[in-house]
Amino acid sequence: MTTDIQALFHRPEQGVYLLNHSVGCLPGSASDAFQSHFLEPWKQQGSHAWGQWLENLTRFNAALASLLNGKSQQFCPQTNLSSALTKIVGSLPPASAGQHILISERDFPSMGFVIQTLCKRFGLKPRFIPHGADLTDLNRWDDMLSDDVWLAFITHVQSNDSLRLPVADITGLTKKKSIISVVDIAQSAGVVPIDLDAWQADFIIGSSVKWLCGGPGSGYLWASDEIIAECEPMDVGWFSHQNPMAFDIHHFDYAVDAGRFMGGTPSIMPFTVSAESIRTLDRIGTETIFQHNQKLINHIIAQINQGEIRSPMQENRRGGTLAISFKDNQKAMQAMNHAGIFCDQRSEGLRFSPHIYNTEEDADQLVEVINRLKI
Ligand SMILES: Cc1ncc(COP(=O)(O)O)c(C=O)c1O
Repeated sequence: MTTDIQALFHRPEQGVYLLNHSVGCLPGSASDAFQSHFLEPWKQQGSHAWGQWLENLTRFNAALASLLNGKSQQFCPQTNLSSALTKIVGSLPPASAGQHILISERDFPSMGFVIQTLCKRFGLKPRFIPHGADLTDLNRWDDMLSDDVWLAFITHVQSNDSLRLPVADITGLTKKKSIISVVDIAQSAGVVPIDLDAWQADFIIGSSVKWLCGGPGSGYLWASDEIIAECEPMDVGWFSHQNPMAFDIHHFDYAVDAGRFMGGTPSIMPFTVSAESIRTLDRIGTETIFQHNQKLINHIIAQINQGEIRSPMQENRRGGTLAISFKDNQKAMQAMNHAGIFCDQRSEGLRFSPHIYNTEEDADQLVEVINRLKI
């Protein structure tokens, strides 16, 4: 099975590719789709390509809906998580001055930049869950979700150590306390099974560049049915209109669904690629991908004779990345580069992320390099 699946992706020909937390490998079908669903219609039809181009956005939303158990009309293509978060917060009925946005010091820094900027603009205050707090502790969340919190930002899987948060339990708390929830699935979509229906969050934001193998530029937001009607995005355009072709400059009606977050003439290219990538991964199945990924991570953990594991040891508490800290991480990184192991270095050490197209031999090669390290 793995051999067939491997053939579906273009992997770098040399070395062992374990950087899937950064950029997932291009599926052959996505490369073909770019040619047939974007370039060919343009070549053959010029402006009349728009019909087919827009279908690519519909396919993108439908692919996400199937993968994440949502509805197509709840998704809206976005450039990246940062801009999606800015649009979401700017679209909501204003919070009372002095209210807080809750975020963790361990969240991806870009999310913190957005939240602090928005707080300044809207008279709100950021409140950080301290770095050392156990983000899986519901009592801690219960304490932090106090009366003066307006919105909580929750990262499903942390990018540095791959800690996985119990999102459904946390959004259960935010719901009970009428606090708006925004969940970041950048590091989980495509590798950890997600059921949006079960989560009951208000908003989800994500990208396709990592485990979804869809390249940069094809982010997305998801909004619950209940909250969409309350959202009035500031960043609008004719594609946010219920009827983009109405062309009456004096009359603007927000689209009834998440399409209200579209804005002006949409970008098509990145979504043409990622729609097909997401469909490919969905056909394989996230549960299958997760099992394979965890098997390889466990295999590596069991075989190495040095390095401190900084990711959780329990599968139900971690995402798809294995972070290992060595005595000298810089030297370890040099050894990885030398041996052709694709990985990177962050605060918790080196990050290794096996996807469905990685094999036990890949894991063994990594183990061999680690066990030979002289640091
Ligand atoms: C957890 C998490 N959130 C967000 C991002 C990226 O955000 P943006 O799409 O705005 O660049 C990353 C990128 O590594 C991430 O790991």
